[in-house]
Formats: sequence, structure tokens, C-alpha cells
Amino acid sequence: MAPSRSALFSGPPGVGKTLASRWIAQQVGLPLVSLDLAAVLSSYLGTSGRNIRDVLDFAKSRACVLLLDEFDALAKARDDDSDVGELKRVVNVLLVELDRWNGRSFLIAATNHAQLLDPAIGRRFDRIVTFPLPGIEERLALLKAGASAPLDAKILRVVAEITDGSSPSDLARLMEMVGRRSVLREVPFERVLLTELLTVAGPSGNNRDTLWQKLHREFGLSLRAIADLSGVSHPTVSQAIRRIEK
Ligand SMILES: Nc1ncnc2c1ncn2[C@@H]1O[C@H](COP(=O)(O)OP(=O)(O)OP(=O)(O)O)[C@@H](O)[C@H]1O
Ligand SMILES: [Mg+2]
Repeated sequence: MAPSRSALFSGPPGVGKTLASRWIAQQVGLPLVSLDLAAVLSSYLGTSGRNIRDVLDFAKSRACVLLLDEFDALAKARDDDSDVGELKRVVNVLLVELDRWNGRSFLIAATNHAQLLDPAIGRRFDRIVTFPLPGIEERLALLKAGASAPLDAKILRVVAEITDGSSPSDLARLMEMVGRRSVLREVPFERVLLTELLTVAGPSGNNRDTLWQKLHREFGLSLRAIADLSGVSHPTVSQAIRRIEK
């Protein structure tokens, strides 16, 4: 069997496509050569043809991992009727390179919009890897890894539940920010985190009510304290908790 030489990474923003490319390069001990197609195809129209060819030549001249980031920009460029011939030529150069890709280098293309790419492009890759948003167990692991102070296991689970739909990048940034605030304001990490979640949980909604209920029932936070943290009135909190327990 021939080893895979190319892969298409697809998934929403912040799920680790770029990070995984870097990790792969590190694992195989090769330098990562990265080309952001969105930047190259939009801002340097006149020179992008040469830029792209230069990068491809460079990538072919040595063993490396070549990352074509924001790959969907290519499909967009190809479909855009208003575009000048130059851009079309660049796109074709890239497609031809994809077809002929071999040698010692590994090619990775990353995209947020796999649906924009036509099947003909998908077929050019040996592997298609889909990066989903993290599930509850992954969010737990990411939160635990990102916390700069040990967190109560129950608190962690509540946070993991309430952050459904967040990307690993969102979670990493949240924990960073909480850690920084905790140090600057000299407030315990866990309390900053809860305060933050009370504000991001939004002005209404089930998540917010669940958070309130859990904080009250499982962590013994008083209704008053929750109301103060969320910036709402005391009766609003008690009503919401009663509603959710009905
Ligand atoms: N699976 C993961 N595990 C741990 N941290 C992650 C993971 N995915 C993302 N992160 C964190 O989020 C940051 C941004 O991730 P990355 O740039 O790889 O996302 P991406 O999928 O390339 O997003 P985009 O589509 O916007 O380019 C990483 O530097 C890392 O801190
Ligand atoms: Mg990326």
C-alpha cells in the first residue's frame, strides 16, 4: 500500500485544523510550510500567481508538510465570474499541482466550508478528515487542561454542559481569560469562571436557568448571590429555578 500523501481537513473555525497540521509536521519531523489562500488570493491579486508558484516550488524542493489553509478560497475564486484571468490561472496551477502531488512531502488542505468545494476537488485528496465540534467528554478534557487552578468535578461538568456548541478555541480562550482575571483581580479562579458563565449564559434561556438551578441546588449558592452575579433581581432567579423544577 502506498502511504497517504495528502489530506483535506474540514470543520468549523477553531476546532484545531491548523493546530493538527502543526502537530503532524512535528510528529514526522518535517518543517511546516503554510500558505493562507484567502490572504494570497484576495490581497495580492497581481502577484499571487507568482507567490503561489514560489511556495509550491519551495515545498517541492524539500521534504515538508505543506498546509494550504483557507482552502475554500480556491473554490470561491474558481467560481467567481467577475475575476480576471490571472486568478483563474493561479487556481488551475494549484489544481494541476494537486493532481501531480507526490514525493516526500505531505499536503494538507484546511477548510471551514467543505460544502463549497466541488467533489472533483475532494477526490484529489487521499484522506478527508472531518473535525466536529467537541462533545461533552472532549469539552471536559479541554476545560480541565485549560484551568489554571484545580476545579471541582461537578463545576467542571456544569461548565462543560453550558458550553455546548463551543469550539476548542473558544474554550481555550475562556479559560485563559478567566485565569488572567483571577490573578489581576485576586479573586478565586472558580468564582471568576462562574461569574463569567452567568454573563455568557445570556439574559434568558434554559442553559441559564439550568446553571442557576445547579449552582443553587448542587453548590449551595444563595439566590441572592446568583442574582448579584448575573445582574438580575432575586425574584427572577427564584422564578426561573421554580420553572425548571416544575
Ligand atoms: N483539538 C484541540 N485541542 C486543544 N486545543 C485546541 C484544539 N483545537 C483548537 N484548539 C485551540 O484553539 C486554537 C485555534 O485552533 P486552530 O487555529 O487550529 O483552529 P482551526 O480549525 O484552524 O480554525 P480556523 O478554521 O479558524 O482556521 C489552537 O491554537 C488551540 O489553542
Ligand atoms: Mg486554521
